[in-house]
Amino acid sequence: MDPAGKRAVVLGGTSGIGLAAARQLHDAGAEVIALSRSASNAASAREVLGQEADIRQLDVLDRDAMAATFAELAPFDILVNAATGGGRARGPFLEMDLDGYQGSFAKLWGYANSVRLGTPHLSQEGCIVLVSGFPARKCPPGYAAISSVGGAVEAFCRAVAIEIMPRRINLVSPGVIDTPMFAAQGKEREQLLEQATQNHLIKRAGTVDEVAQGILFVIRNDFVTGTTVDVDGGALLP
Ligand SMILES: NC(=O)c1ccc[n+]([C@@H]2O[C@H](COP(=O)([O-])OP(=O)(O)OC[C@H]3O[C@@H](n4cnc5c(N)ncnc54)[C@H](OP(=O)(O)O)[C@@H]3O)[C@@H](O)[C@H]2O)c1
Repeated sequence: MDPAGKRAVVLGGTSGIGLAAARQLHDAGAEVIALSRSASNAASAREVLGQEADIRQLDVLDRDAMAATFAELAPFDILVNAATGGGRARGPFLEMDLDGYQGSFAKLWGYANSVRLGTPHLSQEGCIVLVSGFPARKCPPGYAAISSVGGAVEAFCRAVAIEIMPRRINLVSPGVIDTPMFAAQGKEREQLLEQATQNHLIKRAGTVDEVAQGILFVIRNDFVTGTTVDVDGGALLP
């Protein structure tokens, strides 16, 4: 698929990986609609996508609002969902607040909502891209919740790939990526990213553009569906 002239809906498209995907799709000639919850992210996304960019407010957990928004935007050809969905529980599972564990699945519910409600509006040659993460297959200490969600997202992608044909769906699975998801700043941020990647083959955090290139790859390649593309600096191997 050539993104030029296609309509692309990017959920979580106002920050980090989603914003980079929105920008690369825009640069490739797609008509991009970026969506997320907060006005402040919308404002900073306009700095990147341009003041005229179509940026809308939507919570991926609000099914009624999503159904209405998709009906308004339909038909579309590309649906990217990079929304984190909500909070994520960290720490040892045996000490974890189980509501926090359960709440970490907000990402899966947001993805499920968008595939269920978005597919009927997607063109027959259209495609969906979701964003997973390396802990799905290699869980660092304290990442039991995130790993569980990632595993579920991977299984979900393969399961629905069969149902939505001829439309395609793929996952891009990042390693540690330097995005606003990490709140720390300055020296503390540098140390955190350095520590998190010290056992990876490529010992640095990835950039949002490196991950967005993976997203653009699975959009462009019509022979790829139901799979996961790892853009993770070799995080899975050591
Ligand atoms: N950064 C990493 O190291 C890393 C590693 C592996 C996987 N990932 C995955 O990559 C994806 C993108 O992460 P990121 O690092 O780019 O995060 P980010 O910079 O924090 O961006 C997250 C985006 O999701 C939106 N969002 C969150 N909850 C939402 C909701 N309920 N409804 C609508 N939009 C929502 C946010 O906007 P609002 O807050 O305005 O809604 C924002 O636009 C996530 O699925 C994350 O789990 C990231």
